[in-house]
Amino acid sequence: MTLSRTRLTCIVLASLLFFIPGFAPAQQDGLAARPPMGWNSWNHFHRNVDDATIRAQAEAMVSTGMRDAGYIYINIDDTWQGTRDAKGNIQPNSKFPDMKALADFVHSKGLKLGIYSSPGTTTCAKFEGSYGHELQDARTYAAWGIDYLKYDLCGLRDQMKAAPTPETANKIMVDSYIKMRDALRSTGRPIVYSLCQYGNDAVWRWGTTVGGNLWRTTGDINDHYARMAEIGFGQAGLSRFAGPGHWNDPDMLEVGNGGMTAEEYRQHMALWAILAAPLLAGNDLTTMTPETIAILTNRDVIAVDQDAAGKQGDRVSAEGPIEIWTKPLADGSKAVGVFNRHPSAMTTQVDFARLGFSGPVKAKDLWLSKDLGTISAPYAVTVPGHGVLFLRVSQ
Ligand code: GLA
Repeated sequence: MTLSRTRLTCIVLASLLFFIPGFAPAQQDGLAARPPMGWNSWNHFHRNVDDATIRAQAEAMVSTGMRDAGYIYINIDDTWQGTRDAKGNIQPNSKFPDMKALADFVHSKGLKLGIYSSPGTTTCAKFEGSYGHELQDARTYAAWGIDYLKYDLCGLRDQMKAAPTPETANKIMVDSYIKMRDALRSTGRPIVYSLCQYGNDAVWRWGTTVGGNLWRTTGDINDHYARMAEIGFGQAGLSRFAGPGHWNDPDMLEVGNGGMTAEEYRQHMALWAILAAPLLAGNDLTTMTPETIAILTNRDVIAVDQDAAGKQGDRVSAEGPIEIWTKPLADGSKAVGVFNRHPSAMTTQVDFARLGFSGPVKAKDLWLSKDLGTISAPYAVTVPGHGVLFLRVSQ
């Protein structure tokens, strides 16, 4: 079959767009068409992660039903790195005797393996970074069978501090992310590229131009309600910067780590789903209670996060501690979260007209898995302290 001249011109023009900064099509690598789902070692294990831990988490991902609910990536965070060999190739430390064998194991479970590095000489935990070895490291990751890289700014901060102006400092940062993007692409292996620089310089405005499939929008989460809420509700206004292949990342989940109540974890999970956030569990998957599994694997909640339209939700209203957020879904319905940030129960009224509906609506309560039938505004609801009423609403 021969290509028509018009078609050929289109292809050539489209290819040229790749080389114009800022014009890179968002999903050029086809990766992360939906927000990535998986697990990351940092929130629960911090430095105490090794080969056996990762294998146990991968096994638990399967046996608990997490994989079948969509959680695919098993991501090793900081502290896996050893020293470089005589040729400069990065070696894992003694906690990870054979990274290729570990990747093979993870892949044999139908999962994918992620790893962590920094554009600086060292990582946040002061392990070896990729500075000056970007191409070599990308090749090593590809040879091991790595599918995801979290690239964490930390170690580049000293160089940035020494820069003469804030603009030069930002250029050093941006260039370092471009360098690793190019290195990863040159390997030919599809590797999800996760930027971690805590939202500096409004990364959501340029994250796609450096090839980011997702980018952290804030500093680190922890397992306390106040921090989770500060980060989650602080995402208001960022929805227009996310879409298939390029997501805002409000950090990993704390569900199941024990510092919040089940009510608070349901609010955390619902908020992350409305935000179309990456769902990276951060707990120990081998010791989950049935309640934790139920929160992490609720199919209706995950469907909101992973919806095919790929639209991040946003805040519609705030009335003191009551916030209403909506997320438009591919079938024309909307996810509606009525969040109560106050520690005790609050009663409020939901006005569906304000949420873009006219007349009575049909609704399902996603945490109760209960069809509410047809409901009319004003709809009076009582939301438990730090809880959420999470609905899927259609006309
Ligand atoms: C930073 C990141 C965390 C984690 C640690 C590891 O703080 O934001 O998510 O990766 O580094 O040292």
